[in-house]
Amino acid sequence: MKSFNITDELKQNYKFLIGSILPRPIAVVSTLNLDGSNNLAPFSFFTAVSATPMIIGFSPLIRTSTGKKKDTVINIEREKEFVVNFVTESNMHKVNEASAELDYGEDEFQYTGLNALESDLVKARRLLESPIQFECKLRDILSYGDHIGSGRFITGEVIKVHISEEILEGDNRISTSLFEPVGRGAGNDWIKTTDIIQFERKMKVQLQN
Ligand SMILES: Cc1cc2nc3c(=O)[nH]c(=O)nc-3n(C[C@H](O)[C@H](O)[C@H](O)COP(=O)(O)O)c2cc1C
Repeated sequence: MKSFNITDELKQNYKFLIGSILPRPIAVVSTLNLDGSNNLAPFSFFTAVSATPMIIGFSPLIRTSTGKKKDTVINIEREKEFVVNFVTESNMHKVNEASAELDYGEDEFQYTGLNALESDLVKARRLLESPIQFECKLRDILSYGDHIGSGRFITGEVIKVHISEEILEGDNRISTSLFEPVGRGAGNDWIKTTDIIQFERKMKVQLQN
């Protein structure tokens, strides 16, 4: 086994993170630009944080090419709200295009040909092509620095959930095989969820039967 002391070497740290923590789910975050147009970007440093209150978190890093905050962060700091949409086999190619580094204010929905839907409780719009959309209010921004590669952990309280009937079965249960979520691996790898195995759960009380 090879062991490594951790330094500030960005490339190595990043490689260890994305090679170890996988498959990562992907949040496709939509926010409102200053002029009311839409911003859309995928983030795979993304996780569930709390069930009640219902909190999710994701982490944009300071941009490598400019040393500046990403547009998503600028918009969330100002608007205090956003929508988390999800990646599936049918929208993944266009979602990848949405990660392009456009100038601030350029609309990634228009750029990619994806469609925006008005939300019910927040001004940021939803991604029509995503079968699940979470409308979120900002809860926290934890900053780990202002240098290239440093992250901000942004948490949001989910205040409204939209789910396509096409992926629901029984008692509002989301079917993974109908949802067809896609995750992120290391490098250019993306991971489909087509090979599912099951284990009996060992907790005394189950939240889901
Ligand atoms: C699948 C995928 C996952 C990504 N995950 C992250 C991430 O977790 N954190 C991050 O800072 N950038 C991530 N990126 C890169 C951002 O999407 C990219 O920098 C984008 O331009 C940010 O957009 P914005 O400036 O509109 O916020 C990811 C890109 C892809 C394609």
